[in-house]
Amino acid sequence: MLVTSKELLLDAQKNSYAVGAFNTNNLEITHAIIQAAEAKQAPVLVQISAGALKYAGPDFLPMIVAKAAKLASVPVAIHLDHGPDFETVMLSLRQGFTSIMRDASKLPYDGNVAEVRKVVEACHAIGIPVEAEIGKIGGAEEHVVVSEREATMSDPDECVRFVADAGFDFLAVAIGNAHGFYKGEPKLDFERLDEIRSKVDVPLVLHGASGIPDHQITEAVKRGICKINIDTEIRNAFIRTMQKFTEENPDQIDPRKVFKPCIAAMQDVVERKIEIFRSAGRA
Ligand code: 13P
Repeated sequence: MLVTSKELLLDAQKNSYAVGAFNTNNLEITHAIIQAAEAKQAPVLVQISAGALKYAGPDFLPMIVAKAAKLASVPVAIHLDHGPDFETVMLSLRQGFTSIMRDASKLPYDGNVAEVRKVVEACHAIGIPVEAEIGKIGGAEEHVVVSEREATMSDPDECVRFVADAGFDFLAVAIGNAHGFYKGEPKLDFERLDEIRSKVDVPLVLHGASGIPDHQITEAVKRGICKINIDTEIRNAFIRTMQKFTEENPDQIDPRKVFKPCIAAMQDVVERKIEIFRSAGRA
């Protein structure tokens, strides 16, 4: 069933688990995510980025995801990941998204607040929750020195001000996480997370969770992360499985036969994440 992310994340916050937010680009990834959520009886967010909207068509991909969400036996929210501007937010609302992220974290503080407030006003008027980000969640940058790394992390006191000034529903934090695969072993700053958690009431979001070791994810959930974003590990399962299958079956040209093991591999990734996030059986 199609729901908003607010009801999912508030329950996660109350009961100390995290809801998985998995990125999709097409029909096959969407199937894998929803089938995994149903197999594990877990609530889930299916996220679509502006890049995915551009790739698959702004009408077409949301239509697939919305239909899958409505037919699902578990609660599913459709989330705009890293909404780059007001226009993309408006487009997403028209397409039936039930959760919006406006990422203006690259702007100076006042600009970030102004952009997020504008989106909050529009979204809250129709009951749609909003995620915002402060600090900078990097790409995989092993060479970054510690002081530089800390400079990009979310400052706990600024998080408090940001929530109060911009009035959004969920906060994406930068605590040593980065998008894409990590070059070395990532090391989340749990003290920083604790401090943010103790000062801020809204559910917290962890981006860039592909490649973060399970024990650190478990710790992050225990310390108050309620939504965890996964993209790269799903892509990796898709493409690696496809490569292996086509190498082993060079004459196979039926996409349905090629994609079947890919969907199974992606479903497996999502199911494992759901277990680690402790959201299995929470539907
Ligand atoms: P990964 O690609 O590192 O899993 O991050 C996904 C993400 O945070 C999307 O917003």
